[in-house]
Amino acid sequence: MAKTSIDHELSLSLLGWYDREKRDLPWRNTRDPWLILLSEVILQQTQVSRGMLYWERISERFPTVKSLARSDVDELLLLWQGAGYYSRARRLHALAVIVSMDVADGGYGGNIPSEYEELVKLPGIGPYTAAAVASIAFQTPVPVVDGNVKRVASRFLADPNPSPKAIRTWGQSLLHRGRPGDSNQALMELGALVCRPRKPKCESCPLSIRCLGQENAESLPKRKKNMKKIERIDALVMVDPSGLPFLKRRASNVRFGGLWGPPMGDVDTEDKEKIGEISHQLSHRDLRVTVWKGTCSKGIDPKSVPISNLDIKILSMVLGP
Ligand code: ADE
Repeated sequence: MAKTSIDHELSLSLLGWYDREKRDLPWRNTRDPWLILLSEVILQQTQVSRGMLYWERISERFPTVKSLARSDVDELLLLWQGAGYYSRARRLHALAVIVSMDVADGGYGGNIPSEYEELVKLPGIGPYTAAAVASIAFQTPVPVVDGNVKRVASRFLADPNPSPKAIRTWGQSLLHRGRPGDSNQALMELGALVCRPRKPKCESCPLSIRCLGQENAESLPKRKKNMKKIERIDALVMVDPSGLPFLKRRASNVRFGGLWGPPMGDVDTEDKEKIGEISHQLSHRDLRVTVWKGTCSKGIDPKSVPISNLDIKILSMVLGP
């Protein structure tokens, strides 16, 4: 990475603010790379307040990467239930298996790798998570770029759409060489608590002395149009005489793969009763599910298997809460 000069004054101002104002989040009280990696994978697509619950649960059951590698992926999926984006859980299990393999077999002997270049090769670890883990767990000075950091950079630079490279260069200029993980977390924290999408609190911002975007902060960064495609699908809930639904396990390479649910997509709706419609937002899709009801001879208890939030909504539309 090109050498960037550090803005010492701002870097210290940011760290000072972080030390005073940071939230007491459980993964901030550990130096264990596995537990830090787990927090970052959860926070990829789950809010901090909800992420805490999942982190507590999963770290209690799988306190080491090897304990996850030895377990069945279904157990992780069950603990992941409700957090959404289940492919994260399947990739995390695959990561645990690879990391736990012997070095002679191409693994890491149970040690999370410390280098960005190694981390980013692992399943489910993109540039953001690799930078977060390398800096927070191993004090490597690589800047993180997530949605919060992008917003702070856009406002600071008064650039409506800064490139990832421009954001990294800017983030690098604020990284404290002794505490790069804290500098990165401070920027994310600033985006979450002060430089918020709406009603930013510029008066309490440690970067405000040099921020160019304060006059019109709310209009930065420029918002992208919502280009999500609408996808219409059918779901068929077949209920047995005792009131239990027919559920099947989805293949691992499809949406909600590895989770259980009623048949969805190409279902036969002839002679079935139409119950209603459900809207469900995914990251790149706006799903409109038409829910149908039928009968079957034997269903299963939905509480005994991992199920997505969407499937829970579908089942309760037919079976009640
Ligand atoms: N979002 C994702 N990871 C975070 C962290 N470590 N601190 C604050 N916000 C985050």
